[in-house]
Amino acid sequence: MKITQLIVLLAGLLAFASSQAASPYAGQVKAGEVCAQCHGMKQPGVGSPFPPLAGRDANYLKTALKQYRDKTRVSELMNNIAGSLSDSDINDIVSYYSNVH
Ligand code: HEC
Repeated sequence: MKITQLIVLLAGLLAFASSQAASPYAGQVKAGEVCAQCHGMKQPGVGSPFPPLAGRDANYLKTALKQYRDKTRVSELMNNIAGSLSDSDINDIVSYYSNVH
């Protein structure tokens, strides 16, 4: 599968998993369907070049995702993935990852 097809597939799954209320449970579902493919659910994740997310500082993760979404931080993969995240997706996913140890 080409990486662009993978991104389209993942973005579709993410839209499907979207829900209204911010919660670590919704975040776990979204992370499991999309982010975990590269980052894993718990440390150490898949490993280099994918940074682990579990147990990281919530503000750091939130800032990084908004920077990827706004393209003030450049990564072809993460700009595509974060581009489709809403604020509530980010809040859900961050509340999941920052609480996993
Ligand atoms: C196709 C693989 C892939 C997927 C899927 C993916 N990422 Fe990433 N992610 C990367 C790579 C590669 C980097 C490193 C990019 C860089 O150098 O800035 C990264 C970096 C990050 C960072 C910055 C970490 C740091 O230490 O600064 C965060 C936060 C992040 N991703 C969150 C997510 C979230 C949340 C999702 C799910 C919505 C996700 N990623 C899905 C590949 C992926």
